[in-house]
Amino acid sequence: MTQLEIEKAVKLLRGGGLVAFPTETVYGLGADAKNYDAVQKVFRVKGRPQNHPLIVHLASSRELKDWARTVPHQALLLAQAFWPGPLTLILKKKPQVHHLVTGNQDTIALRIPSHPIAQALLQAFGGGLVGPSANLFTQVSPTNMQAVHDEIGDKIDLILDGGECEVGLESTIIDMSRVDDGQSPVILRPGMISAREIENVIETKVDSKPTTNETIKIHAPGMHSVHYAPKTKVLLVERKNMNKAVSQLLKSANQEIAILALSDKCYESSAKIHIIDMPRLAKDYAKRLYQTLRKIDNQKRYQCIVIEMVPNDETWIAIRDRLLKASAKK
Ligand code: TXA
Ligand code: MG
Repeated sequence: MTQLEIEKAVKLLRGGGLVAFPTETVYGLGADAKNYDAVQKVFRVKGRPQNHPLIVHLASSRELKDWARTVPHQALLLAQAFWPGPLTLILKKKPQVHHLVTGNQDTIALRIPSHPIAQALLQAFGGGLVGPSANLFTQVSPTNMQAVHDEIGDKIDLILDGGECEVGLESTIIDMSRVDDGQSPVILRPGMISAREIENVIETKVDSKPTTNETIKIHAPGMHSVHYAPKTKVLLVERKNMNKAVSQLLKSANQEIAILALSDKCYESSAKIHIIDMPRLAKDYAKRLYQTLRKIDNQKRYQCIVIEMVPNDETWIAIRDRLLKASAKK
């Protein structure tokens, strides 16, 4: 990435344009957070309802005071420990922050990304950029430039190429806006920075908002919102039920079935099965998940994706959350 491209991006953003940029989590759809028309364009391009607030990305925590009314001590500790990085803090907003950015709430989501291109862009821009994931509403977040290009490339002004995202899942979102009023911090969206790591830094118990129904059936429940979902139907299956589920599906399959496998298993031999071995480490699995789902979608030859459920422990929480959402019935 040349300085010239960063300068071009900054010029476009200052003129109210939209620039997709890489972060360490997923690609963001950048626009000047203080430009009402530009922010409105972001909602339009994504097809996102306006009551879904946006995250404002900043170059450094020195800029926090421009957006947050107060920054509780514990939020500062988290900023010191995890920024720049895959953590988003919800804080009370300054009155002048536009209601379109915050979905009419009195709080604002702030994040300082670590990706060198995001950093270079934010520093050169010298202000806040809204940055929702650069995908259409409810679709899987993009983790490389091609994915952004395929989905919204014709509707935006520029895409900065930063290669494949290192983390691969969206940031951990923690609500710190009420801690000075005596309320516990609450994790609103799990990410690869875990509750335990956060608790170690602030020495306080954090709550987690239950984001999903944890009851898994072969046909995963449709009670949770459809989000982060590929176009191909996803079936989430517990490890012990994998063989049975796959043979049942094969009986009526008229197209191929993709299996995202986590353990070694022998499936009925069939030309209709395509097994994709997923990494055994949560960190590596997270990096691979969205790119794999997109690849399967692009091939358009699969009837469904059977995903073997991942372990039920702390390091896999964010991945479980996304899998449950990906398998929510449409
Ligand atoms: O990793 C990420 O966070 C990526 C990269 C590009 O930074 N961005 C991202 O943005 O995932 P988006 O818009 O796809 O998701 C932002 C989430 C939404 O679920 C939204 O509801 C929540 O943040 N959010 C934003 N402002 C909020 C607020 N004031 N209170 C509660 N939730 C908020
Ligand atoms: Mg998103």
